[in-house]
Amino acid sequence: MKIQSIRGVKDILPDEIWKWQYIESIVHNIFPRYGFREIRLPIFENTRLFTRSIGEATDIVEKEMYTFQDRGGDSITLRPEGTASVVRAYVEHKMYNPPSILKMFYIGPMFRYERPQAGRLRQFNQIGVEAMGSPSPIVDVEVMTMLMEFFKQLGLTDTQLQINSLGSQECRPHYREILITEIEKHLDQLCSNCTNRYQRNPLRILDCKQCGKIAEGLPKLIDHLDPASAEHFSEVQSLLDSAGTPYSVNPNLVRGLDYYNRTAFEVTSQNLGAQNAICGGGRYDTLVEELDGPSTPCFGFALGLERLVSLVPFDNAKTLQKNPDIFIVCLGDEAKTAAFQIAHELRLKGIRIERDYDAGSMKSQMRKANKTQCRFTLILGENEICSGKYLLKNMETGEQIECPAQELATEIAKFSESS
Ligand code: HAM
Repeated sequence: MKIQSIRGVKDILPDEIWKWQYIESIVHNIFPRYGFREIRLPIFENTRLFTRSIGEATDIVEKEMYTFQDRGGDSITLRPEGTASVVRAYVEHKMYNPPSILKMFYIGPMFRYERPQAGRLRQFNQIGVEAMGSPSPIVDVEVMTMLMEFFKQLGLTDTQLQINSLGSQECRPHYREILITEIEKHLDQLCSNCTNRYQRNPLRILDCKQCGKIAEGLPKLIDHLDPASAEHFSEVQSLLDSAGTPYSVNPNLVRGLDYYNRTAFEVTSQNLGAQNAICGGGRYDTLVEELDGPSTPCFGFALGLERLVSLVPFDNAKTLQKNPDIFIVCLGDEAKTAAFQIAHELRLKGIRIERDYDAGSMKSQMRKANKTQCRFTLILGENEICSGKYLLKNMETGEQIECPAQELATEIAKFSESS
């Protein structure tokens, strides 16, 4: 039986990889302006890292982790997200004393055993950032503003930033009690998922799509914030206003991971369908301490790359497709051998070369050249080898020029400058 890829995972093929590389190049351009540097983290970690940080009563930990025992008997989990790993690395390498706040970003695959559908995969890629070491609302707003600038640079026009405050340990236990009492008045109308978990994780009912009607009428956490969290939230809003970053407050926004406090946010797009969140994040001021590090308030986000790729209009980035500059068409055995040397020399000069190794008929080679979407074909026959002048055909305009071997590189460069 033919072996196929696993349900919910996707190949990124050479024809589309340039889109990913383009987005990554914008990350590498914009994020360092805000002080973020890249960190590369392992794909798998000790299972306890995720159960302790993401929370036992979350969908991710309850039913979505790829967990297995390795040959030494240790419980290993393929990372379902990146924040826990960043915090683990931060504590492990004692990165507590940077000159200022420590800011890192990461790009890579995450794994969640979810029901695959459009926009929801079992292996998906995230770009994430974590700013570690300051409780200031300026950090929250700077990071959200960076994100929205990043989306703008990519040409996204329909993104909506929604924010909420999840308060702190001071106000949440009291609010939980009020919420549970209210939820219990509607128990017969809850979906089975919410019925099962409302005692352990009552906040999730607020953003449950099935229980939306009931959620509308439930008390909101932003009406029960402790004074410091309320002040923090109000500063976040006025800073967003002064940065000119559009947003709306969504009091039902709670995140699917337990480590958040105070600011929580999501960016959605109407062009995404049911799975409409491109990005989610927020503040997590106690996680570093919970993972045995010193008290370190943090703020971060992660965005789904597959969802982002589906939204970006790549019109301005087409030149990033790494198609060949020249496809060498060679006619006859002598030309076939000469093409080897010419290809080698041109590649050393930085030109992307493809050729036909079998050297069939002119027609079949031109067909292959067309398929590669090369910019030029270089036609090599006996006459051309004798005269040392090659026929260079511009595939876009159809124009043909005779070009001496030593001028080929200059001729191609001229074209690159004008395009
Ligand atoms: P998250 O909301 O679980 O947050 O995931 C962030 C983004 O990853 C989502 O908005 C979505 O675009 C994408 N995503 C999540 N699951 C899938 C899936 N199954 N298929 C495709 N895309 C998906 C986090 O992961 C947090 N670690 C974010 C964070 C960083 N908070 C603070 N720092």
